[in-house]
Amino acid sequence: MGRLLASALLFCSLLLLFDASFSHPLCIDSTAPLSLNTTLKFCSYNASSCCNSTEDLELQKQFVAMNISDSRCASVMKSILCARCDPFSAELFTIGSTPRPVPILCNSTISANSSQSSQAANNFCSNVWDTCQNVSFMKSPFAPSLKGQAGLPVNSNFSKLTDLWQSKTDFCNAFGGASSTASVCFDGQPVMLNNTEIPSPPLGLCLEKIGNGSYLSMAAHPDGSNRAFFGSQQGKIWLATIPDQESGGALRLDESNPFVDLTDEVYFDTQFGMMGIAFHPNFAQNGRFFASFNCDKAKWSGCTGRCSCNSDVNCDPSKLGTDNGAQPCQYQNVVAEYTANGTASQPSLATSAKPTEVSRIFTMGLPFTSHHGGQILFGPADGYLYFMMGDGGGTGDPYNFSQNKKSLLGKILRLDVDNVPSAAEIAKLNLWGNYSIPKDNPYEEDTGLQPEIWAYGLRNPWRCSFDSERPSYFMCADVGQDRYEEVDIITKDGNYGWRVYEGPLLYTPPDSPGGNTTPSSISPIFPVMGYTHSDVNQKEGSASITGGYFYRSMTDPCMYGRYLYADLYATALWAGIENPVDSGNFSSSKIPFSCAADSPLQCSSLPGSSLPALGYIYSFGEDNRKDIYLLASSGVYRVVRPSRCNYTCSKENVTSLASPSPSSPKSHASQLIDPCNNVVLLFSSLLLLLLGFV
Ligand SMILES: *[C@@H]1O[C@H](CO)[C@@H](O)[C@H](O)[C@H]1NC(C)=O
Ligand SMILES: *[C@@H]1O[C@H](CO)[C@@H](O)[C@H](O)[C@H]1NC(C)=O
Ligand SMILES: *[C@@H]1O[C@H](CO)[C@@H](O)[C@H](O)[C@H]1NC(C)=O
Ligand SMILES: *[C@@H]1O[C@H](CO)[C@@H](O)[C@H](O)[C@H]1NC(C)=O
Ligand SMILES: *[C@@H]1O[C@H](CO)[C@@H](O)[C@H](O)[C@H]1NC(C)=O
Ligand SMILES: *[C@@H]1O[C@H](CO)[C@@H](O)[C@H](O)[C@H]1NC(C)=O
Ligand SMILES: *[C@@H]1O[C@H](CO)[C@@H](O)[C@H](O)[C@H]1NC(C)=O
Ligand SMILES: *[C@@H]1O[C@H](CO)[C@@H](O)[C@H](O)[C@H]1NC(C)=O
Ligand SMILES: *[C@@H]1O[C@H](CO)[C@@H](O)[C@H](O)[C@H]1NC(C)=O
Ligand SMILES: *[C@@H]1O[C@H](CO)[C@@H](O)[C@H](O)[C@H]1NC(C)=O
Ligand SMILES: *[C@@H]1O[C@H](CO)[C@@H](O)[C@H](O)[C@H]1NC(C)=O
Ligand SMILES: *[C@@H]1O[C@H](CO)[C@@H](O)[C@H](O)[C@H]1NC(C)=O
Repeated sequence: MGRLLASALLFCSLLLLFDASFSHPLCIDSTAPLSLNTTLKFCSYNASSCCNSTEDLELQKQFVAMNISDSRCASVMKSILCARCDPFSAELFTIGSTPRPVPILCNSTISANSSQSSQAANNFCSNVWDTCQNVSFMKSPFAPSLKGQAGLPVNSNFSKLTDLWQSKTDFCNAFGGASSTASVCFDGQPVMLNNTEIPSPPLGLCLEKIGNGSYLSMAAHPDGSNRAFFGSQQGKIWLATIPDQESGGALRLDESNPFVDLTDEVYFDTQFGMMGIAFHPNFAQNGRFFASFNCDKAKWSGCTGRCSCNSDVNCDPSKLGTDNGAQPCQYQNVVAEYTANGTASQPSLATSAKPTEVSRIFTMGLPFTSHHGGQILFGPADGYLYFMMGDGGGTGDPYNFSQNKKSLLGKILRLDVDNVPSAAEIAKLNLWGNYSIPKDNPYEEDTGLQPEIWAYGLRNPWRCSFDSERPSYFMCADVGQDRYEEVDIITKDGNYGWRVYEGPLLYTPPDSPGGNTTPSSISPIFPVMGYTHSDVNQKEGSASITGGYFYRSMTDPCMYGRYLYADLYATALWAGIENPVDSGNFSSSKIPFSCAADSPLQCSSLPGSSLPALGYIYSFGEDNRKDIYLLASSGVYRVVRPSRCNYTCSKENVTSLASPSPSSPKSHASQLIDPCNNVVLLFSSLLLLLLGFV
């Protein structure tokens, strides 16, 4: 019994670690739930489920093998087994990243303001104990099994809960728990989310200008300090010190002394350049960092690599013709590794690095001159490098690369850069550089997929981010063709539909030498947010989305928890609201924005207006304090407290971090100007990223 107690205690300490890692509909293996067209025979889930009919049958077998004679207990156990099929099973069955044998059983009265609705089954854990304590059954999922520990009751024998646990208290200490704002317990019913608060959009986003430079990329320093790296499209990276909020300071950065200068390797043109930078999570110790850029074979001998248009994907490079005078695959997407070693006593003190490439992580020739994504990001939960790859260009993805599982175009790739195989192994596996394939990439189950692929069916993922509070919210904006700009939640093996769909709309390509994919042959995951081109005052005849971040700073408490995104050309901003919280259901609205009167660097205004002239919104950034930045052609802007722009937010002075939900502040609406209407935006003639153009 001593060991039982010990295991119970261990389970309890595990429960303390339970936090807000999962929330939107997601299955245990990180895939999105399936859309069912029939009800599962055994588990009765319909419409959306993490089980297909085969898995449903498996659960039925498992249930029969438990041989539960008591019908009430049988029904309770069935509901617990079937919770695996719940569209929220990742959340029900996972603590941190550790899967559980059974979900957390709701054991306490759920407060009226929590997110779960069922009041009747509010002490489900107690109910399980009362119903099943004296019932013997086989393969009990409640055995206190601990890895590597022998001698404990093994679940292949008949057992009663009372054989395994001393009391209801012990049992519910191990398996019970409550729903919190960011987690869900199991109450015997499919997860139902309910919100009692109707979030109202914030009155506006207040910005200050803290830098004059034009950057495409920003990465917080991995040492957690108030520093960040900024990367330009031309190929330089600067290390900047970020001023405190309210300090009146600007970014401290020496323009003439970049951290590293890669302009000799980077091919820079309107649509080309250095598209991404990433610092290894252990950069402060190992000095490893990565740049993602385009190169030109005609200009740099290091620009080598296979062409993405090849016979494996039914593409003949000689038939592609020349694109704007360039030969097919003259331009490449490259991810290269560099080191900050050797310039300081330790990498976190480094203020410069040598431009010498340490390792070529990835290199691939491009069929056309546009839509080559290029962002790189380390996954906060898994430490793998995610690489966002566009469809390679051409109107309507003529070769249908995005839906072709053999092509890496139009995909999100997931690479392990910490375990690099030998050169012989790389050649054998026909890899595109020096990386290995994470074991749980989806190609194991979806056998047609190239092993690098994490998700597919994207056109040009332009700026993705992981929610810093919930790493399973992997958000990507995907630039549309003619009609729809979308935001997706990226899940393992997810198909985001392009070019069968443009956002939620069916798309017909004008030209398709690469063949077609029929709508009935795919199960696309539709966007959670977005806008149509007619929603924006299209400048220069186009619209192009720039994805942002979940706002997780308390600087603007009314913005907390909202996903921010923008249009590159129209300089319009949106805040997405998830309602109910943690449901994966979003609605979004355009939000006004302005520049604080006391901005450290003066914002220029649009003629005849007090609206800031941002230029093009290329990207967003997030620092180590979770403050959010807009990287625009006219400079770097930081989100500041709303009262600095006279936007009222009743929570602004409330310092409590415990109540992150939105408020309905009293309006000062007469002072607000809607920047989304009736405004002629004047753009500087800076570089033009034709992200959405063909
Ligand atoms: C719907 O179910 C039928 C039979 O159960 C199956 O043949 C069909 O492929 C299913 N359709 C989809 C889209 O899953
Ligand atoms: C699906 O399940 C829900 C909840 O059990 C039920 O209300 C609904 O009628 C079901 N739909 C179908 C098509 O069976
Ligand atoms: C059900 O899912 C399993 C595991 O993902 C897969 O191996 C199997 O082929 C699927 N079965 C059907 C009928 O789709
Ligand atoms: C199931 O349990 C009953 C007693 O409750 C027993 O007679 C029967 O043999 C068991 N079946 C199996 C397959 O263990
Ligand atoms: C929410 O629940 C907590 C804890 O039960 C309670 O203290 C608080 O008053 C509730 N708030 C509202 C608005 O009901
Ligand atoms: C949501 O919760 C409130 C209060 O707990 C309740 O009155 C309402 O009926 C619930 N709505 C749904 C759809 O469950
Ligand atoms: C289970 O057994 C205990 C002790 O023998 C008894 O007090 C309790 O009433 C029984 N519960 C049920 C549901 O039969
Ligand atoms: C099942 O129970 C029997 C007798 O209680 C025991 O000898 C045997 O080791 C148990 N089986 C397992 C796999 O623990
Ligand atoms: C519910 O579970 C938690 C976590 O194990 C525990 O601390 C608490 O005492 C339990 N509450 C009840 C009413 O059993
Ligand atoms: C950089 O320094 C770290 C720590 O000393 C070391 O582990 C790493 O291998 C070095 N990297 C290179 C490329 O020299
Ligand atoms: C906010 O209001 C004050 C006082 O009316 C005014 O001086 C200031 O310029 C306003 N700030 C902005 C950004 O409109
Ligand atoms: C509350 O906010 C106002 C406006 O931003 C500010 O002037 C004031 O100092 C704040 N009060 C406290 C207690 O933080």
